[in-house]
Amino acid sequence: MSLRGRYIIDRIKTVLGNSFRLPCPPYGDPGYWDAAYSSLGPQDSYEWGDVTLADLRKYEYRTVEWNVQRSSSSTNNNMAQQSSLAESLAIHPHVEKNEPMLMLGCGNSTLGEEMIDEGWSGPLIQVDVSSRVIETMSHRCHQLIQNGHMNFVQDDACELSAFRDGMMQACLDKGLIDAIYCAEEHNQLSKILKSVGRVLRSGGWFVFLSFSRPEFLLPRLLKEEMQNVVRKRQWTNLQVQELEKILLYKMQKVDINQDNELRFPPHRIRNDKERRKHKHNLK
Ligand SMILES: C[S@@+](CC[C@H](N)C(=O)[O-])C[C@H]1O[C@@H](n2cnc3c(N)ncnc32)[C@H](O)[C@@H]1O
Repeated sequence: MSLRGRYIIDRIKTVLGNSFRLPCPPYGDPGYWDAAYSSLGPQDSYEWGDVTLADLRKYEYRTVEWNVQRSSSSTNNNMAQQSSLAESLAIHPHVEKNEPMLMLGCGNSTLGEEMIDEGWSGPLIQVDVSSRVIETMSHRCHQLIQNGHMNFVQDDACELSAFRDGMMQACLDKGLIDAIYCAEEHNQLSKILKSVGRVLRSGGWFVFLSFSRPEFLLPRLLKEEMQNVVRKRQWTNLQVQELEKILLYKMQKVDINQDNELRFPPHRIRNDKERRKHKHNLK
């Protein structure tokens, strides 16, 4: 998949509406993944979108601005900036900063192992709905598990029932949100965001990678926030960055002690009329 290819697909889906569905594997079905992993062993690895740690470690990105009402977005091509995954997650990659971090839909990607190799101490908890891949990954990474840097948990990201509220500093996803969005399992997207919000600490970061641009993905992912279904905003500081191969989204769980200002979504997602109405409602 490429950014351009996904843009064309998303645009076609938007123009043709709900009556039309492009064929897509049932990515929202755990059975599909178990079957996909059934013939793969501990030494097999697959990287969604061919994106590896090398693409994220120290990356050059361009800021993306978007407008959901107009179904458009633009990349600021004049200003390429440098950042790192550690910076995105607000975790410095030194061993003394052993911040607990969750990796969603880990599959058999080597990203987690490479992060530990680079000095992240985690513990990095990798979650997948497929018990088959959790078994093979636990086998492959047994040494890291023994050292206390990593763990594997079979769990549904829509629930994250194995995790207590507020126990994670950061949550990273490469491919789960993207795949679920492709399969048009939009209720699963809302559930994943809700469970991530629950397990993150106030001020913690959710970072995920997707090929879809924000004007398509965000109305699905943030449906409840955008429709004011939730009483209080849960997310702030939403940023979208265009990397060479993929888009990196990051958003911060509202810190109830520090961040009472609603920086997201009013200034980007709403049009002027809605914004005035929202301001009025807040008074
Ligand atoms: C597109 S693959 C990405 C795998 C890996 N992160 C990578 O970068 O290659 C999506 C992964 O999410 C897992 N998955 C699908 N639905 C899930 C769910 N509801 N909860 C947790 N994991 C899920 C699948 O088993 C699969 O391993």
